Amino acid sequence: MTYSRNALELDSIMNIEKEKIPGHVAIIMDGNRRWARQHKLPRVEGHRRGASALEGILERAGDLGVKTLTVYAFSSENRFNRTKKEVNDLMRLIKYFIIKKRKDLFDRGAKLGVIGNVKVFPEDLQLAISKTKNLLKKNERIKLNIALNYGGRPEIVEAFKRIMTQKKDVAEINEELVSKNLDTNGDTDPDLIIRTGGEYRLSNFLVWQACYSELYFSDVLWPDFRPNDFDRAICEFQRRKRRFGK
Ligand code: IPE
Ligand code: IPE
Ligand code: MG
Repeated sequence: MTYSRNALELDSIMNIEKEKIPGHVAIIMDGNRRWARQHKLPRVEGHRRGASALEGILERAGDLGVKTLTVYAFSSENRFNRTKKEVNDLMRLIKYFIIKKRKDLFDRGAKLGVIGNVKVFPEDLQLAISKTKNLLKKNERIKLNIALNYGGRPEIVEAFKRIMTQKKDVAEINEELVSKNLDTNGDTDPDLIIRTGGEYRLSNFLVWQACYSELYFSDVLWPDFRPNDFDRAICEFQRRKRRFGK
């Protein structure tokens, strides 16, 4: 179901039930370039505003008691299908976020996880990621997973490669083993997946983990997505009846 910006305005925020907060929320942060075009600004400005929108959502998610927030920042397809300039701008922005926001993340009680193939990233960026992860590792309020050069299918292929090298017997292969070998090892599956920007697809995000996630689509472009839009998604989630095949 989709809601326009003003629909459900009244019943957001105040109707959130504290006992029914999704433990893991994942977000496909889409619409940065359309936002930039609408504001007659360069693309990179859309991405910059997108990164700053994330800070407000992380704060709100932490306040509500969400334990894991996984965000899709850069897909494996983006790496090949965007111009060199856009990829470079995104790399710079990711590095800026990982380094300059270290202290903010620390103050927000956030732990950092990264999913996706970052081995292809410049070494200084990989180093910055490890340093930030290390600095935040004892934080417990919320875990922020950032998906960087991430694709759900490559993640599954890598998991199978890892399993093969562990020389498992065919009989030992089960869902738990596959899950354990994914980048999201240790995290619960997302209860709720939000996609902004008015597109209704997963675009290779968490394809294994999303099997019973509730899906919520918002027309709001990501740089405009605010905590009250997040609240609205949580309210809608709380109205859903999850049956898991029952
Ligand atoms: C999402 O916004 C951010 C990335 C994919 C890096 P887009 O860049 O896809 O912006 P739109 O969807 O074209 O507006
Ligand atoms: C998905 O958005 C990836 C991110 C939000 C990082 P895209 O804009 O790349 O997805 P498609 O191309 O519309 O499916
Ligand atoms: Mg897009």
